[in-house]
Order: sequence, then structure tokens, then C-alpha cells
Amino acid sequence: MVSRLRPVGFWGTGSYLPEKVLSNRELETIVNTSDEWIINRTGIRERRQAAVDQATSDLAVAAGRQALAMAGVAAEDVDLVIVATCTPDAVLPATACVVAHRLGAVKAAAFDLAAACTGFVYGTAVGAQFVATGVYDKVLVIGAEVLTRVVDYTDRNTCVLFGDGAGAALLGPVAGDGGIKAVYLRADGAGDHLLQIPAGGSRLPADHTTVEQRLHFLQMNGREVFRFAVKIMAEAARQVAFQAGWQQTDIQFLVPHQANQRIIDAAIRKLGINREQVVINLERYGNISAASVPVALDEAVRAGRIREGDRVVLVGFGSGLTWGSLALQWAGSPLYS
Ligand SMILES: CC(C)(COP(=O)(O)OP(=O)(O)OC[C@H]1O[C@@H](n2cnc3c(N)ncnc32)[C@H](O)[C@@H]1OP(=O)(O)O)[C@@H](O)C(=O)NCCC(=O)NCCS
Repeated sequence: MVSRLRPVGFWGTGSYLPEKVLSNRELETIVNTSDEWIINRTGIRERRQAAVDQATSDLAVAAGRQALAMAGVAAEDVDLVIVATCTPDAVLPATACVVAHRLGAVKAAAFDLAAACTGFVYGTAVGAQFVATGVYDKVLVIGAEVLTRVVDYTDRNTCVLFGDGAGAALLGPVAGDGGIKAVYLRADGAGDHLLQIPAGGSRLPADHTTVEQRLHFLQMNGREVFRFAVKIMAEAARQVAFQAGWQQTDIQFLVPHQANQRIIDAAIRKLGINREQVVINLERYGNISAASVPVALDEAVRAGRIREGDRVVLVGFGSGLTWGSLALQWAGSPLYS
């Protein structure tokens, strides 16, 4: 039995975005939309699209390698690989098993985590428990998606929003006062129909009618999801900050799920923080679901924006409905290597 929990930090972060850029102009040739509408209503200018031979595990492996390299940790020393995704390579096996094998994480346990766009926040919260309790020392959490395979390119309400990518973090114990300070996770299945892929599971197994009715593609009630997101983003940030023992004004950086600039702007207004304190990259990548928060985090860390000791809040929300947040005092230096 462990009597004292260990502080958990981010030893390394990584990200991978496919090379192919899918611009708003290109989407104008696919559906009845315009560059102007997409920028005004969402803030998105372009997104990335995986190559035909790339699946979610390919993106995840590339991001995971980067996180391990930053941490200076060999793959064979990783204890657990968690892949948060709603676009796994296949229904079976778990994409995390494929990723662990391809990385060379030969002694690691591996599982997928399904919390849609909140996946990285959930995955980090789960992985951190293993480190805090001393069960494991090195946990690799990856958010990875190939959403362009499940987006309906005849539906302008959704196809302009989503893209592909992967972000990763290696969690481990840290010395001192830093690390994850508080976790806030929520779910409400009453909103299950607001953002879903109806077919392909046990409720509606794949057959020719489900394919003809396009039920294997993502469906969304945009207005309801927008309303939900605006309500919970600031609330989740505030809640986790209070749990961490911080004042709202103590938050130095907010790394939000990148779904829509207007949702982020509403959170900025409600929290009374400056735009410079918010990590935003959605104009380049759109919404990459579980990869959204870790890609933004990795870019901010590599750019030197987020540094040792900074108080950072991560917020995610998405299908489920799920939402959640993490409060952390940035601590990247390994205690044990
Ligand atoms: C999808 C979203 C951008 C739509 O923006 P909006 O300002 O709410 O737009 P509305 O849904 O009110 O639609 C307004 C009009 O624009 C149209 N429209 C929708 N998508 C369009 C597009 N890509 N191009 C042009 N017009 C479009 C609609 O058909 C509608 O036309 P109508 O009034 O003739 O019916 C917005 O609701 C949103 O971001 N929702 C949250 C989505 C999200 O974050 N999902 C992921 C969560 S993890």
C-alpha cells in the first residue's frame, strides 16, 4: 500500500501533423461553403489530412516518439501506453497495443480510452493515477485522430470543422512543488445524440443499409454543442483552478480544446484572461478531437511559452457528452530517468 501520493509532471511532449493541408478554398470545391464563412463562424483556415496509407496509429507513433525523445526515455522503459481516440485503426484490437509494439514499448501495458475530444484530459488524469500511486513510473498518453475518414464530405455543417493529427505526453514523477494539482472530469450521456457516429457498433452493426444511409459518418447538432461548450469551458477551468487552491487570476495559461474560436473567445471573456494567455492553433489544424489539447500544449512548450513553474489549465469537451480539465504547475524535469 502506498501511503503518500507522488507529484506527477510532464517529462516530455510531442506532436505529429500529416503533411497534406486541406484549405478552406479546397473545401469550397467539395461542398457549398466559403473561406469567409468558415473563418467568420469558426476561425479555422486550414486543417491537415492523413495520407491514404496513414491510420491513427501511424500518427500516434510519430507523436509518441517525439515525447519520448524530449523526455530522454527509451521506449522499452515505458510502463503504460494510453491512446485516447475516437478513430481507432479498427474496432479490435486496441490502437494502443499497435502503438506500443511499433514504438518498442515491450514491457508496457496498453489500452485505448474513449472520451472523444476530452480524451487527452481523461487519459492524462487516468495515467497520472498510476504514477501518483507508484504503480508505474513512465506513462505515455497519446491523443490521436484521423477524423477525415469519418467526416461526411457531403455535410457542410461538419466537414469544414475537423482534421487529423496526434499529440503525446510522457508522464512521470517529479520533485518539488510542480505537477498536476487537480483533476475535474464530467460526463452526461443525456447528450449522446448531439455528436455521434451512429453505426458500426453493437446497436447498429454495419450492413448495406447503414452504409447507404451514411450512418458511419459523424453527425452533429452544431448549435446545441456550441451552447454546451460555451457553458462548460470557463466553468471547467474555474472549477479545476479552485480545486487546485488557485484564484481564477492565478491561471497563467489556458490550453483549451480547439473547436471554434468563438467558443474560446467566450471562455476568455468569462474568465477575464488575456488572449496572450490562451494557446490557440485551430486556424491551422481545425478540430482534431483528442489530439487537439496535446498538440497545442506541445507547440507552446517547444516555443518556450510554457515554462517550469507556470500554472496551466487544460480544458477539453466533446461527444458523450464529456468534459474535463486539469490544473498543473508545469514540471518537466525528470526525478528518475
Ligand atoms: C457548426 C457551427 C460552426 C455552426 O455555426 P453557427 O453560427 O451556429 O451556424 P448555424 O448552425 O446557426 O447555421 C447558420 C447557417 O449557416 C449554414 N452553414 C452551416 N455550415 C456552413 C458552411 N460550412 N458553409 C456555409 N454555410 C454553412 C447553415 O446551413 C445555416 O444556414 P440556414 O440558416 O440557411 O439554415 C457552430 O454551431 C459550432 O461551432 N458548433 C460547435 C461545434 C463543435 O465544436 N463541435 C465539436 C465539439 S468537440
